[in-house]
Amino acid sequence: MLTIANATLTRGGNTIFEALTLYLAEPRIGLIGDNGAGKSSLFRVLCGLDIPQSGSVRVHGIAAHQVSAQRPGLVGMMFQNPDDQIIFPTVEEELALSLSPSGIPRRQAIALAREFLQTRALAQWASRSIASLSQGQRQQVCWLALLIASPELLLLDEPYASLDLPGQARLSRDIAGVSQQVIVSTHALDHVRHFERVIWLDQGAVRADGPGPSVCAAYLADVAARAATPESVAPATA
Ligand SMILES: Nc1ncnc2c1ncn2[C@@H]1O[C@H](COP(=O)(O)OP(=O)(O)O)[C@@H](O)[C@H]1O
Ligand SMILES: [Mg+2]
Repeated sequence: MLTIANATLTRGGNTIFEALTLYLAEPRIGLIGDNGAGKSSLFRVLCGLDIPQSGSVRVHGIAAHQVSAQRPGLVGMMFQNPDDQIIFPTVEEELALSLSPSGIPRRQAIALAREFLQTRALAQWASRSIASLSQGQRQQVCWLALLIASPELLLLDEPYASLDLPGQARLSRDIAGVSQQVIVSTHALDHVRHFERVIWLDQGAVRADGPGPSVCAAYLADVAARAATPESVAPATA
């Protein structure tokens, strides 16, 4: 479904990945690793926001950076920072925007967004100003915008980071319930440990790749070993 072949990415003079190759076909894939490991960069490459200087990234056979033009409903990305994603001033308008690739007229899209919020017991959020929501609530809006758009591939960059515990439980349940492919990065390992595949990124390279339980255990063991030698806990990169 997703192929990264020999991709090298540099940003601002930093080499983020060098000759990275990954074939991502499992319905649920977790992405873990320290700050600066390259998780967000990998997502940016997968959704076509960044184009590697060499190598290729393809989604369903289409070059990643051409997906939004050729198949607008194929890939949905939830950004680590909600403010990088949200465009409109109110919740209902933001959700309606998500429906625009499917060609639904705006008035109808707003009505669908309201109905959708009602099914989530969030009817009162419809006309709420995004600016009046907390960071965690904005993160929820980003997830709802993705859920209503229902793209075939969901890329979620640290979606649990600002959510309270009930919000995390809801998101985990939502992810378990969707039929699409989901790739999710997180430091909350409990949400990916049960996945059939977890990838541990370390300084832009794959350090481990396999079943969730063993990859999460290996990462935790490494973190514990580094914690025992405090000077090495800090990430190697700034
Ligand atoms: N705009 C940028 N310019 C240069 N380097 C960047 C930029 N964004 C991120 N990086 C670097 O890329 C590496 C990976 O960052 P990132 O993908 O954000 O990691 P993660 O999401 O795992 O925390 C880090 O070393 C970071 O400093
Ligand atoms: Mg990140």
